[in-house]
Amino acid sequence: MCGIVGYIGEQEAYPILIKGLHRLEYRGYDSAGVSMINKAGVLSVYKSKGKVSALEASVADKDISGTIGIAHTRWATHGEPNATNAHPHFSQSKNLSLVHNGIIENYKSLRTELEKNGMTFCSETDTEVLVQLIEYTQITHNCDLYTAVQLALKSVIGAYAIAILDKRNPDQLICARKGSPLIIGVGANNGKKNGKAEFFLGSDATPIIEYTNKVVYLQDEEIAIMNREGDLRITNLSNVKQTPQLHTLQMNLDELEKGGYAHFMLKEIYEQPSALKICTKGRLNVNDKDVLLSGIIDHKEKFVNARRIIICACGTSWHSALIGKYFIEEAAQIPVEVEYASEFRYRNPVIFPDDVVIAVSQSGETADTLAAIQLAKSKGAFLYGICNVIGSSIPRATDSGTYLHVGPEIGVASTKAFTGQVITLIMLGLAIAKEKKTLSDELFHMLVDELQQIPDKMQWTLDHNKGIDQFAQMFTYARNFIYLGRGYNYPVALEGALKLKEISYIHAEGYPAAEMKHGPIALIDEEMPVVVIAPKRGMYDKIVSNIQEIKSRKGKIISVVTEGDTIVKGMSDYCFEIPDTRDCYVPLLAILPLQLLSYYVAIAKGRNVDQPRNLAKSVTVE
Ligand code: F6R
Repeated sequence: MCGIVGYIGEQEAYPILIKGLHRLEYRGYDSAGVSMINKAGVLSVYKSKGKVSALEASVADKDISGTIGIAHTRWATHGEPNATNAHPHFSQSKNLSLVHNGIIENYKSLRTELEKNGMTFCSETDTEVLVQLIEYTQITHNCDLYTAVQLALKSVIGAYAIAILDKRNPDQLICARKGSPLIIGVGANNGKKNGKAEFFLGSDATPIIEYTNKVVYLQDEEIAIMNREGDLRITNLSNVKQTPQLHTLQMNLDELEKGGYAHFMLKEIYEQPSALKICTKGRLNVNDKDVLLSGIIDHKEKFVNARRIIICACGTSWHSALIGKYFIEEAAQIPVEVEYASEFRYRNPVIFPDDVVIAVSQSGETADTLAAIQLAKSKGAFLYGICNVIGSSIPRATDSGTYLHVGPEIGVASTKAFTGQVITLIMLGLAIAKEKKTLSDELFHMLVDELQQIPDKMQWTLDHNKGIDQFAQMFTYARNFIYLGRGYNYPVALEGALKLKEISYIHAEGYPAAEMKHGPIALIDEEMPVVVIAPKRGMYDKIVSNIQEIKSRKGKIISVVTEGDTIVKGMSDYCFEIPDTRDCYVPLLAILPLQLLSYYVAIAKGRNVDQPRNLAKSVTVE
């Protein structure tokens, strides 16, 4: 989704802004723009449709100087993706330029009112309404810009993160947020670099980390003003002063680079064994055969006495939540419901004060997931967050939680966050089971031991499934794929299908294998690739029968089997092998070849794997 970068300091702003926009490309966008104030006090705005590189080309012969600036990548909501609708937007007088993430819900009525009062508009966006409203408020109240922003935002309904330049005051940068994240990077020496002040703005940490790891997370309904003297002043909309809390970013620059891989997605697929080792470090204790999750230890009684666990999530995170449900119910004997956050928040769900509501989200910013837990909070439930991005909105809104610690995920298609979520939910299930004594000591110890071995088994899986790139070429013809799995592998089928859809644009559906007979089997013909997750475990015989049913209708079978299996292998057109493991851990291995399959099919079809069309990494609008 949209991204914001901002800078005020001694350096030229444009290179910092452009680099920042490139860092934000992973979020998904369709147009980009920059705005600077040069030494002569000229406020420039340059925008273009398409990639950041197109913007760079379009400013080649323009004055891009200035030591203060704001920039934006836009993911269209109101108005088509074009240069006019791209941000930054000028105010009518062209004294102000503004960038905005989020959606202004009452923009139509605000625009009508402003038009009645003589303001004119160039674009179809809700963002232009904001900048005009701020300008109009400043004129009618005859006040400074900061006060005008405070007053204007009081009449706005919706979500925003904004940054504003004022050509009459090139020594200050103003920003504000509600419901959409905004981070202020504080340059060396608390904003003073060699005695000179320097501040950075980012809708996430990626454009900032190169320059400083000291940040302030702006809170909802806060406005900040920073100047070249190194002053950072934050108030709320009612002008009550807030004390900025300085945090240290836990991220390093290498994590934001491709490290020799062709795409972030491929790097993140191969990173999974090491990422999961870090995720489980200090949490899985093999010597003592224990699982230690501080988020649970501190709130044991909430989990032990929980009437029910409700997990809210979207997309891939919903799939990992489903695996979490199967495991927690089996191991800890607590009923678990898995909800699409976007549905849950608009129903009137029954939530009891002794329910535990878990939000699973890589970004920690998904608007629907955030709204779902806010609803649960209003009904008194205990909130637990399982997120990857440190300091994001969901961890800050929950009572407790666990970070994945799998490192930044830049590829739009989620890979290492998925396996990180699955292993975290399994650790959570084990930790609750230990407290509730629902597993025998022997079984508990076996589960801990085996879980510890999963990263190495993942490595084996990645090492032994070479050649998928060649094999994937054969499927560029396909218009549809079916993915089948049973039990723990049904969510893997859903996730495998989603991976293929989102990056190759081939239609794919995941089904519980036995559901085939209730409709989807009608789709099978010699053209249809059917991916079956068929480990030699629990329901092996049943899945073999399902494969036979597809075979006899001439479907093409691509299977994921346990190393050494010959039966399913003999029935398959192509086979991926995984090491043997317990049923509940198979998803952590079986998903790896499916991630690689979708990656290589997308490459063979010439798709932009890291930035698939229409998709956003962090879905901050509902
Ligand atoms: C798919 C994918 C999305 C996200 C979904 C939720 O590969 O990445 O389906 O899983 O948008 O995002 P988070 O986990 O950030 O809440």
